[in-house]
Amino acid sequence: MEITITSNYEEMSKVSAQIIAEEIQRKHDLVLGLATGDTPIGTYQELVKIHKEEGLDFSKVKSFNLDEYLGLAPLHKNSYNYFMWENLFKHININPENVYIPQGNIKDPEQFCAWYEAQIKEAGGIDLQVLGIGRDGHIAFNEPGSSFASRTRIKALYKQTIEDNARFFDKMEDVPRFAITIGIGTIMEAKKILLIANGKNKAAVCAQFIEGPVTSQITATALQLHSYVNIVLDKDAASKLERTEYYDWVRDNKHSVQKEIGR
Ligand code: GLP
Repeated sequence: MEITITSNYEEMSKVSAQIIAEEIQRKHDLVLGLATGDTPIGTYQELVKIHKEEGLDFSKVKSFNLDEYLGLAPLHKNSYNYFMWENLFKHININPENVYIPQGNIKDPEQFCAWYEAQIKEAGGIDLQVLGIGRDGHIAFNEPGSSFASRTRIKALYKQTIEDNARFFDKMEDVPRFAITIGIGTIMEAKKILLIANGKNKAAVCAQFIEGPVTSQITATALQLHSYVNIVLDKDAASKLERTEYYDWVRDNKHSVQKEIGR
């Protein structure tokens, strides 16, 4: 895992957008896994800027979102579908036919989950998966105890997650209790992973998932078993890590290390 500690949210957003942009420039028909939440908003704004100012081309990019609240219609203002169009898709030249987001109000969710997995496979798998992290260590909506082999399915949300999500809803009773989410097994098949996190309220969970033992109780720890993970944090989210000096040294000396080994 490569860990980059940035000085603030703006820098975290710029660094992560740059990583995504470079992957799109390298492979124009990139299959991009996308996340929602407050964390990636700045990253998406940076991507929009790169698209507008430098012509970053999304026309062949295919995107798959991680998850959606069960029961919410795509146009509901709290749906992840709405979030993605407002914060990214309507500002770039992505082809709407290439956008995949789980449909919260689908009649047969189980059949839909199998279909969603099949679409990812048919696209050739996810090239780059963007992730945020929940305070309980979830990635997508893979709550504590989720199997590392799990695939797209319905998941009951953990109490802390429901409380965290409540800020977007008028009443506590309106906060969804279930979600459609891709699985840990699905995420682990992505060729590359980029996880971003910011803020003091993510410091404890970042220390646990980066430096703690692998456990399905903190599902982000599964990423320790993936061979290509970039983690970009702001300094608040990194504030409880113990080996920051080492991570900084590796990052600052990456190029000389690559030279040394002839790459
Ligand atoms: C939700 C999403 C996750 C996201 C998390 C953190 O639970 N399903 O994909 O990473 O929220 O959100 P935020 O970035 O707002 O802290």
